[in-house]
Amino acid sequence: MGEKTTFSIIKADVGGYPGHVGMHPKLEEKARECLAQEKGKTLVDYCVSHCGDDLELIMTHGNGVDAKEVHKLAWDTFKDCTEIAKELHLYGAGQDLLSDAFSGNIKGLGPGCAEMEFTERKSEPIVAFLMDKTEPGAFNMPIYKMFADPFNTIGLVIDPNAQAGFKFEVWDIQEHKRVYFNMPEEMYKMLVLIGAQSRYVIKRIYPKPGGKLPENEPVACISTDKLFEIAGEYVGKDDPVAVVRSQSGLPALGEVLEPFSFPHTVAGWMRGSHHGPLMPVAVEDATPTRFDGPPRAVALGFQLANGKLVGPVDLFKDKSFDRARSQALAAADYYRRHGPFEPHRLGLEDMEYTTLPKVMKELVGRFEKLE
Ligand code: F6R
Ligand code: MG
Ligand code: MG
Repeated sequence: MGEKTTFSIIKADVGGYPGHVGMHPKLEEKARECLAQEKGKTLVDYCVSHCGDDLELIMTHGNGVDAKEVHKLAWDTFKDCTEIAKELHLYGAGQDLLSDAFSGNIKGLGPGCAEMEFTERKSEPIVAFLMDKTEPGAFNMPIYKMFADPFNTIGLVIDPNAQAGFKFEVWDIQEHKRVYFNMPEEMYKMLVLIGAQSRYVIKRIYPKPGGKLPENEPVACISTDKLFEIAGEYVGKDDPVAVVRSQSGLPALGEVLEPFSFPHTVAGWMRGSHHGPLMPVAVEDATPTRFDGPPRAVALGFQLANGKLVGPVDLFKDKSFDRARSQALAAADYYRRHGPFEPHRLGLEDMEYTTLPKVMKELVGRFEKLE
């Protein structure tokens, strides 16, 4: 491999079992078989996992981001898994593969992708976050807390290597523009944007210049693929993933996980059209069954050893997240009692499913002017 390590998570929903709940073991088996063939060639290492109905390919290599050979491998793997999904009549087989032809890069073709290239440190603890039944903006609050909130990350206050803060890259996913903010100096300006998580999403975090880490090598990256914009219509929620490096001047592993002790409200859940709590769970509990939810987050921890993935450790399996889970369940009850009313149901603009145009068409002529 090259001097630097590339850590890539590429994911797609290629069929749910049953409905949109979970992953059939045969899809993971097939994915492992496909990636195993490239271990020691295109890939240094890999780990196949899932969150709900999303198949997650976690890969390390030396090819850099957007590498054709890695994206093609992921694409071909999803294609092969789709064949099995079709044989088993899994639900929505191939739903995230929007095109028949691979054109060099997986972007715009349906799957989600978070990847970054960096110089591996002597010891490199790294976390892959996988979410189901929500959108990329669901990462805004936890990533903000990890890298900018001293009430979450005490390292920003008492670790000389972290006190300079971090640089945030924020995308406007409607207008396809980006802007950088230095934390903590520009915190209030950034919050006015990233608090609107359906539009402004944190894409990457960089170290500040002059510290121990190279300023051009990201320390966190979040997938920002918006399926419904790509397809021009609803084809499945763009369940996001993220990768976060940790320790030695970066947030400690416990600071990286701490934001998930609060099951914050995210958009997604049933039909991608509801607000609900994000519940941190172990992989085996990433089975969104109640009203197709509530939305889930999984965290897989690794140590990198020259690109080799030592792990994973299923981090949210720990008992210390039990309270977050019961708070999430209480919040789920509270939201569900709103039925079809906001703020449980999303605003008219943000729903992934809607009958509004049809209803309005039928009501033309029945609306009377108010004096
Ligand atoms: C949400 C999700 C599910 C489906 C719902 C309806 O991201 O995937 O909640 O939207 O089960 O699915 P269809 O329209 O396929 O019957
Ligand atoms: Mg699905
Ligand atoms: Mg999903």
